Amino acid sequence: MTEQSATLKIGDKSVDLAVKSGTIGPDVIDIGALYKNTASFTYDPGFTSTASCESKITYIDGDAGVLLHRGYPIEQLAEHGDFLEVCYLLLYGELPTAAQKKDFDYRVTHHTMVHEQMSRFFTGFRRDAHPMAVMCGCVGALSAFYHDSTDITDPHQRMVASLRMIAKMPTLAAMAYKYHVGQPFVYPKNDLDYSSNFLRMCFAVPCEEYVVNPVLSRAMDRIFILHADHEQNASTSTVRLAGSSGANPFACIAAGIACLWGPAHGGANEAALNMLTEIGTVDRIPEYIARAKDKNDPFRLMGFGHRVYKNYDPRAKIMQKTTHEVLGELGVKDDPLLEVAMELERIALTDEYFVEKKLYPNIDFYSGITLKALGFPTTMFTVLFALARTVGWIAQWNEMIEDPQQRIGRPRQLYIGEPQRDYLPVSKR
Ligand code: SDX
Repeated sequence: MTEQSATLKIGDKSVDLAVKSGTIGPDVIDIGALYKNTASFTYDPGFTSTASCESKITYIDGDAGVLLHRGYPIEQLAEHGDFLEVCYLLLYGELPTAAQKKDFDYRVTHHTMVHEQMSRFFTGFRRDAHPMAVMCGCVGALSAFYHDSTDITDPHQRMVASLRMIAKMPTLAAMAYKYHVGQPFVYPKNDLDYSSNFLRMCFAVPCEEYVVNPVLSRAMDRIFILHADHEQNASTSTVRLAGSSGANPFACIAAGIACLWGPAHGGANEAALNMLTEIGTVDRIPEYIARAKDKNDPFRLMGFGHRVYKNYDPRAKIMQKTTHEVLGELGVKDDPLLEVAMELERIALTDEYFVEKKLYPNIDFYSGITLKALGFPTTMFTVLFALARTVGWIAQWNEMIEDPQQRIGRPRQLYIGEPQRDYLPVSKR
């Protein structure tokens, strides 16, 4: 790590701050001793200019539209790899050999069942409960079952918990879906690959054999790859912050799920599809474009814009290709939602408002159309995002625990409230 320095002048004081360079990407200015030396904090709500950690897992170049996982471009991983291979890469830092992949797939496959008592948690929810609410509750409840993998100081227990989370999320997600639609739970089958197993747990019914469609399970697997990790996004930062207090991994992942649910983050895929449905037809697009530009209207084009990507989200391009593959396989010719989506994208990419603000379609723009075509209700879209992102959260959580610089995260503030004042008895207020 090469070191330079920056000088900060505050009043008559000047302070030298170390500047650190990474492998690629922007340098950072180390302000760790700033408060001690200047009695001032930095101020960056939304953390637009703040690096929270060192990481080797994912690199994003928002201007170039680049996304690397452990150095490998997302386009190559999505084209040539499978989701469990990407899980291995994110967790261990290298692509697995054939033997390592066989062993990892076996270990994940043989952790897919959940404790039978877990099914009792579901019956406490209303059938129309949002599946993300169910997932927040059930994933957090895993802490109550797996006491043998909650000692975060033990690398072995951390890896057992990591594998358990990756293995059990599809089972819990499928159970949340089945409970939502009033069908019986379907147990995992060890002779199916990860994504085929998940689709079968969602869509099989006891009355007939479920036949896996390899095109659809490959599309599902690729969708998981595209959502696996994404640097220090809001939900990953939530998992890191929760983990910094020493909370157990299941509780930390539940915190990540809660944060992902928001429509500005992982909830955007559900919101984007609802928006396309509300627009309904191409001729209504201008009305919504005008609303998105209106400062007094809180409406935003869901599935557009990104904190980091100021160029096209590389995942959105792959997502769009997958959408066409799935609709083609299912024989869906003229999906009105796709027609609206493609026309909305065409207009937005030429409209000066969106061009000037660099608002491009993000991964959530097309994923909803694909997931709907695969048979999922919109309420399940963010659950699928959480299922895939679990490996990213777990990999980042492990990296945080192993980081020698790691300490509890505790930001400060700019206080703008009342200065000290004395209590007044109610008779004098
Ligand atoms: C994900 O961080 C990640 O990596 C997230 C994610 C991941 O993999 O983890 O990539 C997944 O969350 C993708 C983003 C999904 N969210 C949406 O699609 C919701 C719609 N998008 C916006 O809410 C917004 O673009 C954000 C939240 C994604 C980014 O917000 P920022 O970076 O805080 O940007 P901003 O809100 O400051 O917007 C900048 C300007 C503003 O205008 P001005 O105040 O400067 O005049 O652009 C405008 C905004 O009003 N703007 C939009 C817009 N997004 C931003 N205007 C209309 N429609 C939009 N979608």
